[in-house]
Amino acid sequence: MTTLSPESRITAQAVASFAGTADPRLRQLVQSLVRHLHAFASEVELTEAEWFEGIRFLTATGQKCDGLVRQEFILLSDVIGLSMLVDAINHRAAEHVTESTVFGPFYIAGMPERGHGENMAFSPGVPALVTGRVLDADGRPVVGALLDVWQTAENGMYSGQDEAQPQGNLRGRYRTDAEGRYAIRTIVPVSYPIPTDGPVGQLLAATGRHPWRPAHLHFMIEAAGQRTLVTHLFNHDDPYLDSDAVFGVKDSLRVVYEPCGTDHALAAEFDFAGEFRLARYDFVLERG
Ligand code: BEZ
Ligand code: FE
Repeated sequence: MTTLSPESRITAQAVASFAGTADPRLRQLVQSLVRHLHAFASEVELTEAEWFEGIRFLTATGQKCDGLVRQEFILLSDVIGLSMLVDAINHRAAEHVTESTVFGPFYIAGMPERGHGENMAFSPGVPALVTGRVLDADGRPVVGALLDVWQTAENGMYSGQDEAQPQGNLRGRYRTDAEGRYAIRTIVPVSYPIPTDGPVGQLLAATGRHPWRPAHLHFMIEAAGQRTLVTHLFNHDDPYLDSDAVFGVKDSLRVVYEPCGTDHALAAEFDFAGEFRLARYDFVLERG
């Protein structure tokens, strides 16, 4: 008969205490979580002071959440790479479809539906047009797809986070036309730091990490019969592409904002009175 060490016995007892869980998936999740947390404590020989500091940190993380715009637990999941790991596990298979990335905590539902090429920027910045098509996995245009779009202002803050910005600034919902085309008039995105005034910011500072995300435009694209796509387009030349604080960058999501003048064919169509930048990107959705 093998005798368990006191530590192994505690782990075995804690795992076994959940053996009667009726839902098999819940049983698997809880037992595996307990096993891995115990393995972590044993591996690092966790001290009581460290355990207490962990409890304090998680309590402060919960207290920082406001139920509206601030979600410090999502931020924590993002900076430890857990959000992108869950994304990778759940979007494994499909080739030739647009890659997904992190959702982030700054989405606001119910933003105004805007016309083809309508401006969503009501704060200063470099004028830009982001345009392309939404296609299905067979390369056919998706008509009437809804693109929910959001980005920060030049001060690195999202409307909703920053009271100085007009409601709905740099947010909007756009629909594809009969050829699957979309067009968004906006400003070129800028890089910005994720919020550092809470426990997650303290964790980054204590571990010598920077809080910056490379410049990006967020998309959530929905269409009947297609799997909803949550993704970003990243400015191709951003200095933080290789060190995104939340590990969200994928090479296939980089776009060039090409400088254009008023002689460009799209200047008149989209009402640009001066120079602007043009980014083109075709999204390919996975069948739902
Ligand atoms: C964002 O891109 O909005 C974001 C993503 C993860 C954490 C914080 C912000
Ligand atoms: Fe963002």
